[in-house]
Amino acid sequence: MGKKLQGKIAFVTGGARGIGAATCWRFADEGVDGIVIADKLEDELHETREKIEQRYNIKVVPIKMDVSHEMDWIDALYIIREQFGKLDILVNNAGISHRARFVDCTVEAWNKVIAINQTGTFLGMKHSVPLMKKSKKSSLINISSIAGLTGYYSSPYTASKWAVRGMTKAAAMEFGDWGIRVNSIHPGFIWTPLTKQDREMVEKFNKINALNREGEPDEVTKPIVFLASDDSSYITGSELVIDGGHSAGGGVRMIGKDLGIYKND
Ligand SMILES: NC(=O)c1ccc[n+]([C@@H]2O[C@H](COP(=O)([O-])OP(=O)(O)OC[C@H]3O[C@@H](n4cnc5c(N)ncnc54)[C@H](O)[C@@H]3O)[C@@H](O)[C@H]2O)c1
Repeated sequence: MGKKLQGKIAFVTGGARGIGAATCWRFADEGVDGIVIADKLEDELHETREKIEQRYNIKVVPIKMDVSHEMDWIDALYIIREQFGKLDILVNNAGISHRARFVDCTVEAWNKVIAINQTGTFLGMKHSVPLMKKSKKSSLINISSIAGLTGYYSSPYTASKWAVRGMTKAAAMEFGDWGIRVNSIHPGFIWTPLTKQDREMVEKFNKINALNREGEPDEVTKPIVFLASDDSSYITGSELVIDGGHSAGGGVRMIGKDLGIYKND
């Protein structure tokens, strides 16, 4: 067990499963004082909470909420004030994907993705910052994607993740005086319930990244701990890419392989 997050209270959205749940586990392992896990999946939420509480002697508070609903954020922050009286770390992780080209995407599907991924992140920052600024040294981490760095064939997802990247930089400027650092994380393909739905797609993408494989949730949670902890005290407004080299030049790599320039010799 580490001590990087000792004395801190963390709030993780979409924490019932996938990268969010793995983040809660990693935070507990790094000695965090308390965790608030928010998700709309009630059963998984309580399961994750119970398991973490059994393994670590810390207080874990589950909150069933929809990150796109402002009232849910107001209620969640009320609970955090009551239960912990402070907040040092927020991970805006809850997100959904929807594969649709611009020419096919319905306005309803578009609005849903934007509401959860983009508006949810905005609401999280808006409502958490008044409490976070009291800590004087807090960290806000927004989970974007490689789809926030490049063009991707899910049009609303790409739009929302580019927005998260831009909002992160604007927020870093706004919150700096309050000692709140804000950074974005850009995972490539990570093996979670989201990507497990499409093994074939993940395998195709694995061929173009430099490491030829998908990432594991813990390969994202360790960098999240770094950004959440005081180890990254001079890092704000930055973007941390965790994609096995996908965005560094996946197309070049594929062509280099085809031409026989890149060989496994
Ligand atoms: N897995 C990947 O390859 C990958 C890559 C890049 C970015 N991401 C991003 O990482 C984050 C987590 O992804 P994951 O792979 O763990 O996905 P996941 O589907 O396994 O988990 C997402 C969690 O968010 C919750 N959630 C969804 N909508 C919600 C809402 N409206 N309110 C509250 N909770 C909600 C879900 O119930 C779920 O528990 C997402 O923002 C996703 O876009 C994932």
